[in-house]
Amino acid sequence: MCGIVAYIGSREAYPILIKGLERLEYRGYDSAGVALLQSEIKVFKKSGKVQELKDYASKYDTSGNIGIGHTRWATHGEPNEVNAHPHFSSDNKIALIHNGIIENYAVLKEELVKRGYEFHSETDTEVLVHLIEEVQKNTKLSLFDAVRVALNEVTGAYAIVVLSEDNPQQLIAARKGSPLVIGMGKDEFFVASDATPIIEYTNNVVYVDDEEVVLIDLKDGLSIKTIANQEKTPYVQELEMKLETLEKGGYEHFMLKEIYEQPRSIYDSMRGRIDSKRGDIYLGGMLEYKNILTQANRIIFTACGTSWHAALVAEYLFEDIARVPVEVEYASEFRYRNPVINQGDVVIAISQSGETADTLAAIELAKQKGATVLGVCNVVGSSIPRATHAGAYTHAGPEIGVASTKAFTAQVTVLTQMALWLGYTKGTINQAKLARYLVELEAIPSKVEEALKTDVEVEKMARIIADSENALYLGRGYNFPVALEGALKLKEISYIHAEGYPAAEMKHGPIALIDENMPVVVLATKNAQYEKMISNIQEVKARKGKVFAIVTKGDVAVKEMADRWIEIPDCPEELSPLISSIPLQLLSYHVALMRGCNVDQPRNLAKSVTVE
Ligand code: M6R
Repeated sequence: MCGIVAYIGSREAYPILIKGLERLEYRGYDSAGVALLQSEIKVFKKSGKVQELKDYASKYDTSGNIGIGHTRWATHGEPNEVNAHPHFSSDNKIALIHNGIIENYAVLKEELVKRGYEFHSETDTEVLVHLIEEVQKNTKLSLFDAVRVALNEVTGAYAIVVLSEDNPQQLIAARKGSPLVIGMGKDEFFVASDATPIIEYTNNVVYVDDEEVVLIDLKDGLSIKTIANQEKTPYVQELEMKLETLEKGGYEHFMLKEIYEQPRSIYDSMRGRIDSKRGDIYLGGMLEYKNILTQANRIIFTACGTSWHAALVAEYLFEDIARVPVEVEYASEFRYRNPVINQGDVVIAISQSGETADTLAAIELAKQKGATVLGVCNVVGSSIPRATHAGAYTHAGPEIGVASTKAFTAQVTVLTQMALWLGYTKGTINQAKLARYLVELEAIPSKVEEALKTDVEVEKMARIIADSENALYLGRGYNFPVALEGALKLKEISYIHAEGYPAAEMKHGPIALIDENMPVVVLATKNAQYEKMISNIQEVKARKGKVFAIVTKGDVAVKEMADRWIEIPDCPEELSPLISSIPLQLLSYHVALMRGCNVDQPRNLAKSVTVE
């Protein structure tokens, strides 16, 4: 989950590293550190945010044209300065940064301690740098080969960059299971966990593959070998990302900007894929697997967090529209429980980052068991799109706020199109019905625009909820996953304990929680279960619960019962999560602000969860 960045060339490295770390801070913000090559390696480390490091380093000489930087999400060892990266060899001549987890670090450490190595930190990472040192000492190999050989001893996940005083023209990078991308400038190179620190310097990148070690040499350029010593040819790709998408663009927080970007991100996730006039839908990735998909006995969706909620929406969509049995699995459970996957099953993995370790492991397992695996991802070139057989990107643009917002609606938009494509291709919906859905889908961006206008009302609602310690979110049908997602948004950024429930399940237990102090957010839009939902609201009111309702424009009945309500535009039930999730995102945003929480970087979290 940590972020790593490195530079080698003729510019000053430090400003590039700091800016890069600020861009990567979404990956972890427990501590930050840089190492710069001057006459010797100079290191600056601080616990806390990159800003702390900046303040501290501002008093010192930070010159140098080669350097490495790291922002940490702590796994092994407290988030303090000693455990902050970079970590060093015994003679301080080699510095190393790492993202991932070395699973056999305890065994390796024991062996290295026996050989006289002293460890200063509690991290798994420090083992790596001493291991490289030990290999070099025993074999007299070049640093590059020593790194390669050392990595053969390691189990677990890593993306690393190594800087050495004795190799002042080189950086060495390697990856297994954690992302790494190299930016190719003119006589300069950048290395980072994702392309965001690189984009303003070059569009040309090389994505490092698993078990590859990269030698970046200022004189000789880039060469790649696998850890098994096989030469690889670097494949240079062009980035499509735009720099302005990485800035706050006048908004106070990335999360707010991303919430407001949704009319555009939903539109972008449909652009070029649907044609309502002709009643046509085109999804390249699906087409390639047309026979397998149309004949699938079952579709298993696997994902984590918000993406798992999008998968739950997909369950309703695919069963409703394409009449195929669906199962939805937490990737972290699926990967460990020997699931039954039969021939004819299709697995669809959903992930914003495309790097979530559990989702990646679930994909590998499904592939091993012979399933066709599709991906729905946002980050182009990330690990999941490369690990799956085919898929569809979401085109939400970079999502930087840790709380996922526009990625969720983009996922639901893509999943809706997939369900429509499958239903139409299988014949469970006809062309006229498809065309009607497509017209409605095309209208969603402007309806989301309208839903965003409820912000002022939502803020008033937030004022009442902000002092609560608990909250319940209720929904039925398509609104049930939205209730789960609303509750997750609230808890992750405002630290209020919130639970999402299918409204009808209340009577089986959770209703005992309701009293005059319990805010209950109800999703009571006009749908097939509207009347039932009214009964559930009455059950809450009868126990003095405070009802905050999301209703369809023009609603009468729920408004009469609710303590406060927000009106959103009407749309077919199948598309309603795209709209009803908007006020819930705004609600969590305002509540978190009112409670003084860090909206974009909530405590203990990281955007991209690349550890188990
Ligand atoms: O990148 P992914 O979509 O695979 O990430 C999955 C979850 O870690 C993510 O959705 C997380 O739950 C978000 N913080 C929720 O806002």
